[in-house]
Amino acid sequence: MSFDLIVRGGLLPDGTQADIAIAAGRIAAVEPGITAEVREVIDAGGKLVSPPLIDCHFHMDATLSYGRPRVNASGTLLEGIALWGELKQEQSREDIVARALDYCRQAMGKGVLAIRSHVDVTDPGFRTVEALLEVREAIRGKMDLQLVAFPQDGWFRAPGAERQVIRALDAGVDIVGGIPHFERTMADGAAAVRAACRIAAERGLMVDLHCDESDDPLSRHIETLAAETIAFGLQGRVAGSHLASMHSMDNYYASKLIPLIAEAGVAAIPNPLINITLQGRADTYPKRRGMTRVPELLAAGVTVAFGQDCVMDPWYPLGSGDMLDVAHMGLHVALMTGTEAMRRCFQMVTEAPAQVMGLDFGLRVGARGSLIVLDCAGPIDAIRLRPARLAVVSDGKVVATTQPARTAALPFG
Ligand code: FE2
Repeated sequence: MSFDLIVRGGLLPDGTQADIAIAAGRIAAVEPGITAEVREVIDAGGKLVSPPLIDCHFHMDATLSYGRPRVNASGTLLEGIALWGELKQEQSREDIVARALDYCRQAMGKGVLAIRSHVDVTDPGFRTVEALLEVREAIRGKMDLQLVAFPQDGWFRAPGAERQVIRALDAGVDIVGGIPHFERTMADGAAAVRAACRIAAERGLMVDLHCDESDDPLSRHIETLAAETIAFGLQGRVAGSHLASMHSMDNYYASKLIPLIAEAGVAAIPNPLINITLQGRADTYPKRRGMTRVPELLAAGVTVAFGQDCVMDPWYPLGSGDMLDVAHMGLHVALMTGTEAMRRCFQMVTEAPAQVMGLDFGLRVGARGSLIVLDCAGPIDAIRLRPARLAVVSDGKVVATTQPARTAALPFG
């Protein structure tokens, strides 16, 4: 038996130590002390070896555009949408491609090997879609990019948006998107949810809606999304992104809603870095946190995966592409400081988004040969320190390495 790559002596997320052997891009063995012929060895030396980080909610057509055409002064979602409306008129396809590829390299260096990006299909010139389809091809073999046909200006609110969604799907975009809370009325929002689910059912696709990104406790499009998921037989293929209004909902209503989400097999994708800053802007004090009810959704058996959402764009001035930053913020906002809860937060940026995206990642025989080696002693330490990604391996190939920074400080006394 011979292998292409062996990662020796890694500490796996479950606390066991093992070598991992990869052959022909797939994991061929996970066991201690593998002896075989091998082309390349990475000595993990007891450091954490994990499945790759995955970001299942991003906006790659807007990333790294911070300050264009100007900074978001109110810090709100709505001003961000208005700024993006101006930027998308003026940016070229080449500009979008260059920024997106720059971002992908940064994220890959942080161990992110798959991204689900929404792409605004209401750009009349269609440059956003063409650009991100080009990026998907350019990074193929190193990173996976799933694209969501996202009518940013509203399914019904933007003239011709449904036609643009279909045009994007015909061009090769993977998933049906939407933004029901941005429609003019609750009734239009519900109709938009239904239309998205119908198209997904007809075409055998997944659905991922921006859903209830609002502090309005009566924004209940997630209820319609769960019900329509069941009605169209889409269980396991649908995600509700953000779900921020659930933070503000009446507790009795939430106790009825959460089992419906679980029954429908709808996944939840909170984006903690973004909603901790976008939401609560109309509050005085106390200011609401604006993140959905993560522990309660998990307890009900709902798949919950954290997303990055934005890096340096009209909605968010910071971000580095590091999903461990996202897990760190999510852990704090959700008050998930118990030992098991913190480990769960690590899963919400590795295993859970892989499940949402239908990707065959994981440290098991037969899975894709993709993993990362982190300069730390376990998943909780990874969130605490956000350490160097010593090696990033994609389908058996080393695609990034990082030398850890070393600080020298004088002793006291
Ligand atoms: Fe988003």
